[in-house]
Amino acid sequence: MGNAAKVKNQGTVLSVASECVPLVKTGGLADVVGALPDGLALTGWHLKTLLPAYPGLAERIKKPKVVWSSKNLFGGCAQVISGKTANSDGALDMLLLQAPHLYDRGGSIYLNTKGNDWPDNAQRFAALSWAAAEISRKGLSDGWRPNILHAHDWQAGLAPAYLAYGGAKDVASLITIHNIAFQGLAPATLLKTLKLPRKHFVQDGFEYWGKISSLKAGLMTADAITTVSPTYAQELLEPEFGMGLEGVIRLKRDRLSGILNGVDLKTWNPRTDAHIAHAYGPRDLAAKSKNTRALEKEFGLIKGQGPLFAVISRLTHQKGLDLVLDTLPALLARGGRLIVLGSGDAGMEKAFAKAAKDHPGLVAVTIGYDEAQSHRIYAGADVMMVPSRFEPCGLTQLYALRYGTLPLVSRTGGLADTVIDANNAAVQTAVATGVQVAPNRSDSLEQGIRRMCDLFAKQELWVKLQKRAMAQPLGWEQSAQAYSELYQSLKK
Ligand code: ADP
Ligand code: GLC
Repeated sequence: MGNAAKVKNQGTVLSVASECVPLVKTGGLADVVGALPDGLALTGWHLKTLLPAYPGLAERIKKPKVVWSSKNLFGGCAQVISGKTANSDGALDMLLLQAPHLYDRGGSIYLNTKGNDWPDNAQRFAALSWAAAEISRKGLSDGWRPNILHAHDWQAGLAPAYLAYGGAKDVASLITIHNIAFQGLAPATLLKTLKLPRKHFVQDGFEYWGKISSLKAGLMTADAITTVSPTYAQELLEPEFGMGLEGVIRLKRDRLSGILNGVDLKTWNPRTDAHIAHAYGPRDLAAKSKNTRALEKEFGLIKGQGPLFAVISRLTHQKGLDLVLDTLPALLARGGRLIVLGSGDAGMEKAFAKAAKDHPGLVAVTIGYDEAQSHRIYAGADVMMVPSRFEPCGLTQLYALRYGTLPLVSRTGGLADTVIDANNAAVQTAVATGVQVAPNRSDSLEQGIRRMCDLFAKQELWVKLQKRAMAQPLGWEQSAQAYSELYQSLKK
């Protein structure tokens, strides 16, 4: 943990989430939850991360100790084991909630083998939140107790609520919204099962159009709310982005701030990345081209006049990838080629697979999730496309910047905050790092593609942009400082 030992101890935090790198990941939430502890360690805060013990995770904890137990946690015995797991910085302090009746099953962490939500997801994550609140209130059997309970997204949304309803005088709570589109709605018939007090099942509580909302419960009860970029914090006040919770956000706006996600600079480093064939940095970008050639070979693409565009993403409405399909003819007409790595919406998976079939040598698609392949694409591609309809922060554009792969993004949320559009002034003053498009429609994206191709054609300028992109300060330093100050202000 770097220099953490020399830093003055500020306090302890229980970070609670449904995913965490390196143990389990379906998206950016896992990257952020996994990187926070090391980022914050440098500011003097010690985080332990509470995660459900999905199959196979407990085996990855070194010297596990049982530190909490319950004879009946939402229908079965449960215990928490404490121990370290290896991460890019050495080790991460984990707490795994073992509750076989809730977490010991096949399928994915949220979905059954048929691709539907587990029918007991409300109980599964209420249990996680309940354990978090209990640990915050009474501590672990080894004496550890947090100053701050930090809940992430709806899966941990009930944690601040259980804490508040049960009375917690000396523990403060914070909830981070990574994506307000997911709210953890459950039928009102589950009130008792989820151990929620009926008196708070009202508009001023966690009731949402006749249902229980775990996210709303967290927003209404936490001492502070953050989201993962300043622009998304602003956007959340509006119906277009608030997804029905804009009223709650407005009510709590004094408690809301936007803190940008950072990047784990050790994992995402083209100089040391074990997944890529040719290491490189800003001074030897020729080696990046070797990765491009390797990628073309891997995907059976021909060499083109234009840039190699890429998408690495969940294939969902949020990510706006239907616009990529719409603009594909324009992209190909300018000599571009396209690689897509993603999975999600069945219709979109099919449409991309068809595009690859229709354009052999020009479009290549991997349907699935492949961490190693994602690194090879970040390294080899010229342009990373992120035309999201909304994007709380977005990590793909940050990793792309780090690998000198210029982002082509829509001007929303964290994309607006992290990519500097190559307009004339930004090019003249040498601050541009990519291209932004707005409004988020196919005609604007098409224009963005054209602008990228024009920039790519001016190789000298392109290399300058790449160097500028790679020089962006993307680590956790600044954001960790912001979290640290927030924790400090909340500490009771
Ligand atoms: P979100 O969390 O909304 O999906 P982010 O941009 O914050 O979006 O994070 C996405 C993360 O998931 C990044 O680390 C990205 O590299 C990774 N990722 C997305 N899709 C895939 C995939 N099919 N294979 C490998 N990694 C992926
Ligand atoms: C969510 C958001 C994404 C963000 C990630 C990590 O998945 O969709 O924009 O980067 O959380 O905070």
